[in-house]
Formats: sequence, structure tokens, C-alpha cells
Amino acid sequence: MIVRKIRENELKRSAQLSALAFEYPMEGAEKSPEAFIREVRERPRSLEDARWDSRWAAFEDDDETMMATFCVLPWHATFDGHDVVMGGIGGVATLPQYRRGGAIRCCFEAALPDMYAQGMVLSYLYPFSNAFYRRFGYEIACDEARWTLRLALLPSLDAPGRWAMQEPGRDLTADIRAIDEARSRRYNCAVRKGDTEYDWTGADPFVTRNYTFVYYEDDAPLAYATIQARPHEDLRCLRCGFNDRRGLEGLLALLRRYAADHERAVLPMPVDVDPRATLPEFSLGGVERAVVQRGMARVVNVEQALALAKAKGEGTLRVRVTDGQIPENNGGFEVRFAPGMKNDVRRTDAAPDVALTIQDFSRLLLGCCAFEPEWLPGVALHGDIEGARKLFYPKPNYITQRF
Ligand SMILES: CC(C)(COP(=O)(O)OP(=O)(O)OC[C@H]1O[C@@H](n2cnc3c(N)ncnc32)[C@H](O)[C@@H]1OP(=O)(O)O)[C@@H](O)C(=O)NCCC(=O)NCCS
Repeated sequence: MIVRKIRENELKRSAQLSALAFEYPMEGAEKSPEAFIREVRERPRSLEDARWDSRWAAFEDDDETMMATFCVLPWHATFDGHDVVMGGIGGVATLPQYRRGGAIRCCFEAALPDMYAQGMVLSYLYPFSNAFYRRFGYEIACDEARWTLRLALLPSLDAPGRWAMQEPGRDLTADIRAIDEARSRRYNCAVRKGDTEYDWTGADPFVTRNYTFVYYEDDAPLAYATIQARPHEDLRCLRCGFNDRRGLEGLLALLRRYAADHERAVLPMPVDVDPRATLPEFSLGGVERAVVQRGMARVVNVEQALALAKAKGEGTLRVRVTDGQIPENNGGFEVRFAPGMKNDVRRTDAAPDVALTIQDFSRLLLGCCAFEPEWLPGVALHGDIEGARKLFYPKPNYITQRF
């Protein structure tokens, strides 16, 4: 088996593998490989197009017959207030006749050290199976809260601002982006979106039947929501964004106006937002909250991630990490931290305070769970638990970008 990044005449084949594996109709199936790549180069419609050369593939020994593929998209994302490069894994696909032959394992074994060499700090993906991606160092990461609100029980909330609708002739994209940009700085794993991630704002809502509204107070954009309303169905908020209570209240006030035609609305939110203080009524099934898993993360560069991590107070912690794919991440690291000081990270052979797998290290350093060794089978605590909790503690995390 040969594993390498694809060449330009192989992009179409790689796209065919993804279409087959994910069972969707392929766009451009009639084009020659040359015409296929030319179009992607001339008119990239996504980061995946713009970085078509970030696709890996496994080939038979002839170095021509493609068996499996995936892409590693260099997203910019937030980690503890820093902008880092996060390799977004997408389109993971093996032709059925080659499955269970180790083709994807070989691709990860080549791609992960390459991501390290390129300076990526994190990686993220949306799994079909947690167990499958745990083999490659990923661990469950961000969650999303889905709130179902009974519209008749929402306060009428005379929000002081005004709403405007995105439609041809009225482009509110810059305001939507400003709301997203402010939010993405607050959450670990949140992707800084570029122009192509806002293509959807160009769609005509009278064709898609998905209507996007932006809420303003004193001309400042405070919230937006794309609402899918279908007769006799719950209102679905396909996406929404806000950064404070005023924005949330504006959003609820808009939803309330649908109460005559719809019983309930479903809204996606970061898990640290709790709108219940704003809602006057919880009884009669007025509010329900479901938490859904939104992907898996992996630290690609342990040393860099430790250097950038925001610690609480002052201290020194020695961690020992085991990583099956990236050799540089294996071993002991001593981290010294203090308020106003850059973390000092050194390699050490001294006995660790905490020994962990790369999976648990990733989940804990991103703040996706509390440091409770009792519930984390991959964590061995040798030192003081309160010391470990200065580095490993729950932090805001949220991701909305799909790939
Ligand atoms: C999922 C998929 C990409 C796996 O590809 P593959 O080339 O068969 O994977 P590999 O042979 O490299 O398997 C790697 C390991 O995972 C195991 N594995 C393979 N398929 C698995 C599955 N469906 N569930 C759990 N484990 C699986 C293998 O046994 C192997 O274990 P090992 O390395 O410890 O021995 C392939 O089945 C596929 O294309 N599926 C349809 C598309 C899809 O679901 N893609 C993933 C989207 S997130």
C-alpha cells in the first residue's frame, strides 16, 4: 500500500470515493479529471475546494489505484483565547472492496505526523463512530444544547430593537459575521469562518424557505437566526448567534411572533448558555433541553498546546502523555504557570503528577469535561488533584462549522 497526498489529476477520483461512501449524487461526475480540477481551482466554493491539495489517499502498490481518502482542512480556530490551526478531517472514505484492510489507518499514520510538522495544534472531526476515531487519538469534545421552547409560554418580551431580513437587495452578511466572529473568540474549537462559509447568505429565502433575520439595538447587530417554518411542524432554528442576554431576548421576541402558527421552536446553543432565567414559565413542558455530541477533537502538538493553555493561578504540573501516532507527543512535560506569565514548558523524565492518553489529554485540555479521574479510565493521577485542576478544568467550547 502507498499513502500520500493526491495529485491534481486524482482529485476527481477522490471526490468519487467520497460520493460513493456517503451515498450522495456527485456534482461534476460528467467532467474529465482535468476539467474537474480546473473548475475547483478557478471557482473554489469552500475551503475544501481552495485546499484540494490537502487530501490524502491510500493506493494499491501500483501507486495509481485509489482505495481510500480523506482531507485535512487547515481551519483557524480558538484555543484558550489563541488563534491556532486546527486540521479538520472530512470525507473519510474507503471503497467497499478495500474496507477493513487498514487503508484509513495508514492514512492517519501518515497525516497526523504531517499535521504536526505543518504546525497544527489541534484536529477535529465529526465521527460515524467514536470507537473508530479513538484509535487515532481523537476523543469526544464539544456538545451542543438543543432547547425546545413552547412559543405560547415565551414572554412577549417587547424587545427594544428591530429585526431585518436577509434577502436579495438587503445584504446583512457583514453583521452576521460580526456576531459569529465575537462568539468564535470565546469558545474553544470555534472556527473563524471565511468568505466561502457565508455563501448561504446569498440564497433567496423565497426559494429555500429558510429565512434569516438579524436583530439590532441602536444599529448594533446583537443576534441572528435562520428560521425554517413548515406548516404544522415545530419551528426549527437552523442556525442562530448572539453574544449576550439582550441578543437572546431579541431572538425570543422574534420567535414569539410565530406562536399563532407554531407550537414549539427548537434552537441550537452552546451548552454554557442557560436561557431559563429569561423565561418566566417552565411548567407544562414549556422548556426541554437535549444535549447532543458535536464531534471529536485531538491535540496534534502537546508541547504547543501546553504552552498556550490558560492555567488557573500559579503552579507546576508534570504530565506524561502517550500518543500512538505522533512520536513527539510521547513522554513527560513540566509546565510552570503564573498569572501574567507565558507558560514555561520543558520535557522531563521526572515522575508525573498525571499520566494520560492523548485522547483524555485532548478532551481535558480543551475543557470539554471536568478533571474527575474516577470517570476517566485513561487518566492516572499520582499528584495532587487540585494542582491538576489548575490546568485541566471545564472551559467554554462550541463548534458550528461542519466539514
Ligand atoms: C469508515 C471507513 C472509512 C473505514 O475505512 P477502512 O479503510 O475500512 O478502515 P481501516 O481498515 O483502516 O480500519 C481501521 C481500524 O478500524 C476498524 N474498523 C474499520 N471499520 C470499522 C467500523 N465500521 N466500525 C468500527 N471499527 C472499524 C478496523 O478493524 C481497524 O482496526 P485496527 O487498525 O485496530 O485493526 C469505511 O468503512 C467507509 O468508507 N465507510 C463509509 C463512509 C463513512 O462512514 N465514513 C466515515 C465518516 S465519519
